[in-house]
Amino acid sequence: MYVVETDNLTKYYSRGKIKALEDFTLQVEKGKIFSLLGPNGAGKTTLIKVLLGIVFPTRGSARILGEDISNPGAHSRIGYLAENHRFPEFLTANQVLFYYGKMSGVEPALLKERIPQLLKLVKLENWGDTKIRKFSKGMMQRMGLAQALSNDPDLLFLDEPTDGIDPVGRREIRDLLKNLRDRGKTIFLNSHLLSEVERVSDEVAILKNGRLLQKGTVEDMVSVKQQFTLQLAEGYDLLQALCAELALPLVSQNGSFIVSVRDDAQLNHLIDKLRERQALIRGIVPRKITLEDFFIEVVEEKEVAAP
Ligand SMILES: Nc1ncnc2c1ncn2[C@@H]1O[C@H](COP(=O)(O)OP(=O)(O)OP(=O)(O)O)[C@@H](O)[C@H]1O
Ligand SMILES: [Mg+2]
Repeated sequence: MYVVETDNLTKYYSRGKIKALEDFTLQVEKGKIFSLLGPNGAGKTTLIKVLLGIVFPTRGSARILGEDISNPGAHSRIGYLAENHRFPEFLTANQVLFYYGKMSGVEPALLKERIPQLLKLVKLENWGDTKIRKFSKGMMQRMGLAQALSNDPDLLFLDEPTDGIDPVGRREIRDLLKNLRDRGKTIFLNSHLLSEVERVSDEVAILKNGRLLQKGTVEDMVSVKQQFTLQLAEGYDLLQALCAELALPLVSQNGSFIVSVRDDAQLNHLIDKLRERQALIRGIVPRKITLEDFFIEVVEEKEVAAP
């Protein structure tokens, strides 16, 4: 079942001058951590706002939790951490969670029980009676996360959740998100922290100028098709000679060699030749790049007309 489905979703601002989202079609499955990546101004926040009914689409349609976005019926099952959110500074953490939880339709008695658990979950258990104005940036983000979870949502929209959070805190949040996912929740994440996204996401989409450029698993994006890193104990001269003979591109990198082959048969042919001539192979590893490398390649190469 798809928890988020969009169909040619389009949003123009300023009477059509700004094309924030253009024919955006996407499906997100239940129980996944889905991340949307894109440069500043790509349309990530606009997409979340359209899905939540905060701004209206120019055209196209979308459903969340099976309900059309024009129908607020699903909202009580959704949690939302807004980008650059602000809470009233004169309220304490307990009060914020109480008021926001009530606005999400949670019974006061249930909230009273749940608030200490939420604060514990985001490591703010000793700050319940402290006013928000005394909170650091990272603590504000943690509060935002606790607030987004106050109605025990099935679907969570998090816009830059780890912005301003230190590395230990980011790991805790990653673990928390995985834990929620393992309990069947669906998490829709907007983030610029690509190493974070790489560690936590089941699926990733890349957006630029309002258009979807790529979608797939992290594994799909970081595996370089048909390139292998070869490590030899000895026989590098032989490898170079064989690659020249077989017309296989070969580059050296940090003491190993990266060879490009057409298919598995060609790789095995190369290995046979190497072994025939007594080269000592230590390892053959499919080549991987980081999500950041992939992201930069996609965003810089596939130029889409600017709005
Ligand atoms: N209320 C608005 N009125 C006019 N233009 C807007 C409005 N909100 C966003 N935009 C424009 O829409 C485009 C997409 O903005 P959006 O905030 O969705 O990007 P983003 O991908 O979330 O960027 P960031 O990574 O910086 O958060 C930008 O060109 C932005 O200037
Ligand atoms: Mg944004």
